[in-house]
Amino acid sequence: MLLHPSFDINEKGHLTIGSLDAVELSETYGTPAYYLDTDAVRNMCRMYKAQFAAHFGGNSTPIYAGKALCFKKLYAIIAEEGLMADCVSPGELHTARAAGFPMERVFFHGNNKTDGDLRYALELGVGHIVVDSPDELAALDSIAAELGKEATVLLRITPGIDPHTHQKISTGNIDSKFGMAISTGQAYDFVKAALDAEHIRLDGFHCHVGSQIFDIDPFKEAAEIMLAFVAKVREEYGYLAPVLNIGGGFGVRYTEDDPQIDYEDNIRRLGQEFDAICKEFDIPKPSIMMEPGRSIVAAAGATLYTVGSVKEVSGFRNYVSVDGGMPDNPRYTLYQSRYTVVNAEKADAPADYPCTLAGRCCESGDLLAEGISIAKPERGTILAVLVTGAYNYSMASNYNRIPRPPVILISGGKSEIGVRRETYDDIIELDS
Ligand SMILES: Cc1ncc(COP(=O)(O)O)c(C=O)c1O
Repeated sequence: MLLHPSFDINEKGHLTIGSLDAVELSETYGTPAYYLDTDAVRNMCRMYKAQFAAHFGGNSTPIYAGKALCFKKLYAIIAEEGLMADCVSPGELHTARAAGFPMERVFFHGNNKTDGDLRYALELGVGHIVVDSPDELAALDSIAAELGKEATVLLRITPGIDPHTHQKISTGNIDSKFGMAISTGQAYDFVKAALDAEHIRLDGFHCHVGSQIFDIDPFKEAAEIMLAFVAKVREEYGYLAPVLNIGGGFGVRYTEDDPQIDYEDNIRRLGQEFDAICKEFDIPKPSIMMEPGRSIVAAAGATLYTVGSVKEVSGFRNYVSVDGGMPDNPRYTLYQSRYTVVNAEKADAPADYPCTLAGRCCESGDLLAEGISIAKPERGTILAVLVTGAYNYSMASNYNRIPRPPVILISGGKSEIGVRRETYDDIIELDS
């Protein structure tokens, strides 16, 4: 096993993904290509479902955050596994609907939903809309009235905590574009407005503190603040929230330097914290929801590339350039996210060639990794970047008019196309 159960090395010394030879996969599907071990995705869904039921209570279902990875066949898997789905745009809603995902199991997020987005969500019969601001609440109330519907909502609340993660992926602090803050008093006015709105049914509250969180402390802190808020709202308005959704964020091991994470144990301990905090505030435990994205799909994914050049800049560094880059994985450029890179043809050879992994874009910041070491590649070598299941395909672009790679699904020792490779004609399809 290399880092996660989806990755191993076979008798030829080749990397395997979901037990299939990465070099043979590349011959079949070409490079660059994303791979996703859907058996591993299902295992994570089952783990979350079982642990939530055991430790959060019967109605507490995990909600898969589709922003991590979103395409029709994945939504079909998520639906089969009985999870709910968090969609953040009409495009994600549309994908879920096209996959036959039960819309009543969808939570619709976003800090700036347009009137058109809200109308589309109501027409689709989305189960919950997570309302971000009083402006949006008023718009939703009037659109629901127009459609003769009642919108079931959660209100996005800003708990005001620092989850000690990268600033760009932390959203729970007061100075955030998301939600209304408790400490400024605005969250209370927000609740009052929702309770007064004629076509709104308030089902509870939502918060999200950040992403890539490895221990339960930020979640525990959020639970303390949010359950105190639930208690205060009951005192002020006589309203007891049935649902508390504390967002996503469990971390994933990208490199050997990241800590191991025991999700079961984290959820069990968090469950105990919820019980204790509810007791402290003398409130019945709401249905606890969480929205894991990354931790469901990241470790099930890898991207395979072909090396185009190995360039040694004397006195500086070695550049290994591949046939992908920031258009298929912008995370290094955005956050300096670290990855494990493997020479897929010599996965068991010593990783002793220090290099920078560069993409193919006309952009010097187009790097996938720096300061890594791999078994020395040459032009034509297949390289793998591991743990790319989350926030890679979903963040991919056509920068430099580069077609997006396909997503290949692997299950039970077989592979199939989940999303086909874009063509050059796809790229010009929308041009008039
Ligand atoms: C509101 C919300 N829910 C869930 C998630 C998913 O987080 P993760 O993929 O880290 O589990 C995010 C990520 O940014 C988010 O903003």
